[in-house]
Amino acid sequence: MAEWSVGRVAKRCGVRVSTLHFYEEKGLISSFRNSGNQRRYKADVIRRVSVIKAAQKMGISLASIAEAFATLLDQRTPTQRDWQRLSSKWQQELNTRIAYLERLRDSLTGCIGCGCLSMKNCPIYNHEDKLVSEGPGPVLLDKLMKQH
Ligand code: FES
Repeated sequence: MAEWSVGRVAKRCGVRVSTLHFYEEKGLISSFRNSGNQRRYKADVIRRVSVIKAAQKMGISLASIAEAFATLLDQRTPTQRDWQRLSSKWQQELNTRIAYLERLRDSLTGCIGCGCLSMKNCPIYNHEDKLVSEGPGPVLLDKLMKQH
């Protein structure tokens, strides 16, 4: 079994050593001590860290990542099937996120009801910032994003 030092894992994954310690504290990855009492990782930690980074980029919370990772047994290297099971847990979350981002993309060209009155169509949708009575922030955008 190949043993990886924390520095080597950090370098290969493009993360700080402190990030690995943080992931470990959160139970997302685990290490062991070698005969010299040095912290070491199994090679599959690289894949775990890579998946954590990718999932975070997609906006999946660390809590959700930890929950999904709990299905991967620590005692052995996860198989393709293990990863398949894990990714199916995220499918609904990712679909919801994709739909949200599509709505956001399609809404940003019009008035979002933020009070700036800087767009041509603001007087139609938010005359004299009447939407301020409904609360702070981009009222129209918030409403749209909550609809689904
Ligand atoms: S975009 Fe800000 S109020 Fe219309």
